[in-house]
This record gives sequence, structure tokens and C-alpha cells, in this order.
Amino acid sequence: MKPLVEIRKLSKFFPVTGGLLHRKTGEVKAVNQVSFEICQGESLGVVGESGCGKSTLARLVLGLIKPTGGSILFDGQDITRMNQKALRRLRKRMQMVFQDPHSSLDPRYAIFESLEEVFRIQKENRDRDQMNQRIFELLDMVGLKAEHARAYPHQLSGGQKQRAVIARALATTPEFIILDEPTAALDVSVQAQIVLLLKELGQKFNISYLFISHDLALVDYFCQRIIVMYLGKIVEITAGKLSDRQPAHPYTQLLMESLFVADPFARKEIPQARGEVPTPFNLPKGCVFQTRCSRARDICRQKEPALESNRHNGRVACYFPLS
Ligand SMILES: Nc1ncnc2c1ncn2[C@@H]1O[C@H](COP(=O)(O)OP(=O)(O)OP(=O)(O)O)[C@@H](O)[C@H]1O
Ligand SMILES: [Mg+2]
Repeated sequence: MKPLVEIRKLSKFFPVTGGLLHRKTGEVKAVNQVSFEICQGESLGVVGESGCGKSTLARLVLGLIKPTGGSILFDGQDITRMNQKALRRLRKRMQMVFQDPHSSLDPRYAIFESLEEVFRIQKENRDRDQMNQRIFELLDMVGLKAEHARAYPHQLSGGQKQRAVIARALATTPEFIILDEPTAALDVSVQAQIVLLLKELGQKFNISYLFISHDLALVDYFCQRIIVMYLGKIVEITAGKLSDRQPAHPYTQLLMESLFVADPFARKEIPQARGEVPTPFNLPKGCVFQTRCSRARDICRQKEPALESNRHNGRVACYFPLS
């Protein structure tokens, strides 16, 4: 299958300043030399603890922030080298849905106006009737009723607001949508409905998703392959669902032991850190995970392992993988 999105050695380092003069004292390696691709119609997951760089990766991939290095190819075009006009044209084809539906919607606009605005920004020349029809079609697609069109965000429930946000993302008929913790702010029962809706829409319109979450079971349910991130690095890319195979990287195993529960919609806690957790601006030499790894030996402390293909068709960055 042809990749729709190709990420090559992508990095984002944020400067850390200190002292009275705010001099640069170091940098946070939020995303550190990551490479992967997303195929057409594929749902690829990204998991990892808070602060490992998931949201930074999302913003880089959409061209919302400039990378420190590396490239992002969308349908063969490098978005890091595009001018604003070309990027705006491309933005129609890629969208994002964030965690908090409330801050994604302008409180001064009724849902209808929020959707109308998309067409205005995209400078689409549709006549009124055509646009009205399209807006009601979009609301229907996400399971909202015509009467919701006149509602303001504060009059809707969290789930309804997220449906409106999804309708707005679909307005430009995107081929690729990044979902950054799309259900984290919702009640468990509503989470399931939104996830099912996204899955159904993905299949219907052949949308590729990058699904970000620290909820392993949810990501495993939604995605065909999963990227495991730790301190800005990809430590493993699975060839299939986590529940179907043994983890290869010790960190994947740690996440699975602490987070995997049979019911993808049950509430889960973030795992307690085991061992010393380095910060992304104080990375150890060698493997990023060594301080928490029971398998670490001398080589792990000396040289960083590369992300390499394993015999399960996945990729793992570990000298002593579990499988
Ligand atoms: N604009 C910024 N300036 C400086 N540091 C930043 C900035 N944005 C993110 N970071 C740092 O980069 C690292 C990765 O942050 P990011 O928000 O990408 O993590 P995340 O995996 O999305 O976390 P969470 O699960 O909590 O959403 C963190 O150490 C964070 O403090
Ligand atoms: Mg985040």
C-alpha cells in the first residue's frame, strides 16, 4: 500500500531558558528523530506517557509548528518546504480533533455558523442552498439533528460538542485526521459512541487516522498498528494489534502490564513510574529507557539502539527485545 504520510527523522527541540536574562540553558527534545509512515485508510496509534511528545508530534505533522529537523511528506509533497498558500490548500486534506471539544468551538457561534466558517475560510464558492444542504448533511453524518444547528456550544453536552467538532473536521472532506485524545474529556459511555462514530466514518470515507492516546486498550481497539513513544523517541512500532502479540520492547511491556484491561472503555489510571524517569531535557547517554529497564546492560548505557525491523514485521529499538 502507498503511504499517504511519510515522516523522516522528524525532531522538535524546545529551548529551555533560565536565570534573570532568560539565557538558553538547554533544550527539551520533545520529538527526537522519529520516522514512520501512514498508509491510505490506515489507523495508526500513538501511545506513551504524559510528556513523551505525542501532541508535539501531532502539531508537527499538520505543519502547525516548525520542526527542528526532518521532513513530513503528505502525498509525496514535503510540507516543511511549502509556502503558506500551498499549505493552506493542503490543510483541506488534513484535519485535527483535540481532546477538549469546548475550546475547539467558538462560544459566540452557533454550530451552523461554526460549520459555515469552514467554507468561508476555504473560499469555497457554493450558493446558499448548496451550503445549507451540505451543513445539514454533515450534522446528520455525525449523528446530530437539524435542531442542533442553531444551538450554541454551551447548550450542548460534551459528546454533542465533539460530534460538532468532527462534523467541522469532515467539512473539507479530509483524507487524513489526527485525533489527539479525542475522548479523554468525555464520560466513559460517551467515549464509546464517539470512538465508534470515528471508526465508522473512517471506513466510509477511507480516512487515515493518527490516533493519539495514553489509553492503550482504546488505541488497540481503534488502530491496525501502534507506535510506542518514550521521551520523544519511538521505541516500538507494532505490526498489528497489541492484544494479538507479545510486546518486543520492555517499555511496551510495562505499559501493557499497567494499562491493558479487557474492556477498552473502562476507566484506567496512568501507571506509576517504576525506576527513575529522566526528563526530555536530561536524556541519558545510550537507550532512553535504560533507567527503568530490568534488561539493561553496558551496551544500553553506551550506544543508543536504532529502530530496526524485527521478525514479527514490526520495528523495535532495543538490543535485548522480549520477542
Ligand atoms: N511550546 C513548548 N515549549 C517548551 N516545551 C514544550 C512546548 N510544548 C511541549 N513542550 C515539552 O515537550 C514535551 C512533550 O510535550 P507534549 O505536549 O508533546 O507531550 P504529550 O505526550 O502530548 O503529553 P500529554 O499526554 O500530557 O498530552 C514535554 O516535556 C513538554 O513540556
Ligand atoms: Mg498531549
